[in-house]
This record gives sequence, C-alpha cells and structure tokens, in this order.
Amino acid sequence: MAVELTNLCRQLRLAHIAEYVSAQQSEQLLQLVQELLVAELDGRRRAKLGKLVQQAGFPHLKTFEGYVTDHIVFPQGGSLDTLRQLEWLERKENLLLMGAVGTGKTHMAIALGVEACRRGKAVQFYRSSDLVAVLQEKFASGTLSKFREKLRKMDLLILDEVGYVPFSQTGSELLFNVIADCYERQSVIVTSNLEFGQWTSIFGDTKLTSALVDRLVHHAHILSFTGDSFRLKQAMERIPG
Ligand SMILES: Nc1ncnc2c1ncn2[C@@H]1O[C@H](COP(=O)(O)OP(=O)(O)OP(=O)(O)O)[C@@H](O)[C@H]1O
Ligand SMILES: [Mg+2]
Repeated sequence: MAVELTNLCRQLRLAHIAEYVSAQQSEQLLQLVQELLVAELDGRRRAKLGKLVQQAGFPHLKTFEGYVTDHIVFPQGGSLDTLRQLEWLERKENLLLMGAVGTGKTHMAIALGVEACRRGKAVQFYRSSDLVAVLQEKFASGTLSKFREKLRKMDLLILDEVGYVPFSQTGSELLFNVIADCYERQSVIVTSNLEFGQWTSIFGDTKLTSALVDRLVHHAHILSFTGDSFRLKQAMERIPG
C-alpha cells in the first residue's frame, strides 16, 4: 500500500480508502486520491488555524516579518529562532518580555501566539487590566469557576501590559489565582514595562506580589527589551525634513 496515502488517511481518519485504492492497482487513481486528500488536509489545517487565531482574541495580527532584534537581550544561548521553535511551550515554560514603551513586547507576544496557533495550540490573549475586569465580572455573577476552567484548557495565556494600570486588591487576588492555576501546567507570556521590584505598585500586597513573581519566574525565559520606542521612531520618520 502507498505510504503517503496511508499517512494521509491516518491523519484524516479515513478507515477504508487506502485499501480500496490499493485494490484498484491504478497509479492514476492513486495520484488523484492523494491530491484530493492533501487538499482536504490543507483546508482543514487552514480552517483550524483561522478558528484558533479568532478564539485567541489578539488585538491585531503580527508576524516576525521585518521584526528586528538587535535591541533585545535574550536569555543565555537564546535567540528569536530558538523561541520560534516553541520548545518552551511544549515544556510549559513561561516567557517574560520586559522593557521600555514601544520596544516590541506586544508585537513579539502576538507573533509567537500566532505561531503557537499554527501548531494547533489553544491561545488566549488578554491585556491584563481587561482580564482583571472579566475576572471581577465573573466573580460578581458567580461564574468564575467556569471561566477559570475555560482558561485552564488553554496551552498559552498571554497577559499583556502588566504595569500600566494598578489593580484593586480583589483584582490582584483574582489574577494571582489565574497565574497559580497556570503554574507548571500551561505557558504564560507576560509583557511588562516594570521590573519585578516595582510590581508591588501594581498588585499592592508585597506577599502576594512575591508569590506571583515566584511562580512566574520559575521555569521562565526573561527577555529584556532596550532602546527607543518604535512608535516614536516611526513618527519621527514621518516628519518632513
Ligand atoms: N522589533 C521590531 N521590529 C519591527 N517593528 C517593531 C518592532 N518592535 C515593535 N515594532 C512596531 O512598533 C510598534 C510598537 O510595538 P509594541 O506595541 O509591540 O511595543 P510594546 O513594547 O508592547 O510597547 P508598550 O510597552 O507601550 O505596550 C508596533 O507597531 C510594532 O509593530
Ligand atoms: Mg505593549
């Protein structure tokens, strides 16, 4: 039996086609069926990717095309290429993207999220203040456990912009519980403009902040984004001169 056809049938969960085609002993039929099955597999993959990207709730789509990395300090031995292989995601490790305004943290988080979707992974993107608002709403309506259950099914949770808006005590506690749920079970990408030492100003409580940071940094890759804002650079380029 043709190996490629058998593989295709296995991937598409088609139980009897390979046997039928093999019995016909027609090279032409074999080629035609293989072409059809490749088309079906591609179509299913595209549909799945579209669904995963839509469900992830990215604010906009970004890719690594034209993405420069000279201003990014990667953890020892790391590079954008190694991150893009997503081994950290398979190992349920975290990525912490830290640094100044406009240096490409959200861009990288989204582009990696899209690549995770390409691998069939379930991703959920939240601006952290939005997630806290959702958690508070679910808490108030008595549907928090169901919502946390849904988050637990994700392979990757992206928490964008930790640091711009301080959280209330309840908000901090709710967010802490989500991060504790993810610990060693799912990957989290966090982007922040603040160093960990300043996170107490966002979460309020010192003990809660250190417990939260402890969970995040254990099994984490920390990237430091330096330099000037790309937004500013792009705006300067637009000034006629
Ligand atoms: N390394 C890069 N290469 C090319 N374009 C980039 C790069 N980094 C950022 N940009 C572009 O610059 C703009 C700002 O980037 P981004 O929103 O990712 O910054 P940020 O670090 O998340 O900033 P903030 O802390 O304000 O949220 C975006 O339009 C983004 O596409
Ligand atoms: Mg950002």
